[in-house]
Amino acid sequence: MNILIFGKDGQLGKAFQALFDSLLPTLAEKSNIQYVGRAECNLSDATKLDLLLNQFHPQLIINASAYTAVDKAEIEPELAFAVNATAPELMAQYAAQHGATFLHYSTDYVFDGEKYGIYLEDDMRNPLGVYGKSKAAGEEAIAQVFASSSSGGAGQYAIFRTSWVYGNGGNFIRTILRLAKDRDELKVIADQYGVPTSAQWLAQVSLGLVIDAKGRLSAFPPGIYHVVPVGETSWYGLARWAVQAALDAGIPLRTSSRTIKPIPAVEYPLPAPRPMNSRMSTDKLRKVLEGQGDMSKLELLNQPWDGAVRSYVHHLAKDGSI
Ligand SMILES: NC(=O)c1ccc[n+]([C@@H]2O[C@H](COP(=O)([O-])OP(=O)(O)OC[C@H]3O[C@@H](n4cnc5c(N)ncnc54)[C@H](OP(=O)(O)O)[C@@H]3O)[C@@H](O)[C@H]2O)c1
Repeated sequence: MNILIFGKDGQLGKAFQALFDSLLPTLAEKSNIQYVGRAECNLSDATKLDLLLNQFHPQLIINASAYTAVDKAEIEPELAFAVNATAPELMAQYAAQHGATFLHYSTDYVFDGEKYGIYLEDDMRNPLGVYGKSKAAGEEAIAQVFASSSSGGAGQYAIFRTSWVYGNGGNFIRTILRLAKDRDELKVIADQYGVPTSAQWLAQVSLGLVIDAKGRLSAFPPGIYHVVPVGETSWYGLARWAVQAALDAGIPLRTSSRTIKPIPAVEYPLPAPRPMNSRMSTDKLRKVLEGQGDMSKLELLNQPWDGAVRSYVHHLAKDGSI
């Protein structure tokens, strides 16, 4: 199987590399995997992207790339839309026309966060900023491509909506731990809620939907799936939890979980507004995985966020990254 993975230098892209390396010999050995970063193909170059797809002939396309600079997107809307909407649309067109499977990732930022309760996959999108708008446009374009080619019995797609991703790269947890080394006190937003999601876990869960135990592509109901671990917290809750985990791992910090102060989002204005409520139900994915009958995939989906963050922080402590 030819597998093409975009975004190789990002958190999710690196998680996929680690995952495929660990899947030897079941999947990786039988597959021809190509990892693509900005150097190999700038995704704002549609011609180059098209050429790459047609040269490599992937049966599985994983788009782990994205324009993720949420605030900068406000002043670079064309680039954000090129990477987050036009490029995925081209990948979807290739997949639909050539019978390939397309995995794409999206975000809680497609919602306005005004809902009282947990977001479902078909809740109305209403992004607040350019990044969210560009990701929402990507979702819509992909669905449209597959809807208009469905009679041809073509490829299949899944869009995994997730939130608060951390992995091998810059993220909120690393920022908090860096600040906690230098400062006696931190102020963190306490009225925005979501679920921290490990990139490694996200790669594993999402691949689990499309690959069977023998490493073959399996059929699944196409569409959007929410993918976050179990539980929820605020940025403040996450900061406190991460700092405590680092202290427990023996890392000397000037901030303790008691000297992190909760503040409302209005006291920390940013160029792009963020949703106050990013809670997303994973019941749709849970039902599909139940139908596939592989209990290990369900167990993985049912992992709570807090244990995963603790392991991540301990891992950072062990390899000297804090
Ligand atoms: N991070 C989060 O908190 C979060 C939350 C919800 C959803 N998501 C979604 O999850 C997915 C993975 O996110 P992530 O955290 O892994 O993102 P990331 O670490 O920012 O990685 C994104 C990758 O995309 C690449 N990229 C950006 N513009 C490009 C261009 N013009 N041409 C080629 N490559 C380009 C970047 O390349 P360079 O390394 O060269 O810059 C980077 O390696 C994305 O779809 C994102 O929208 C993320």
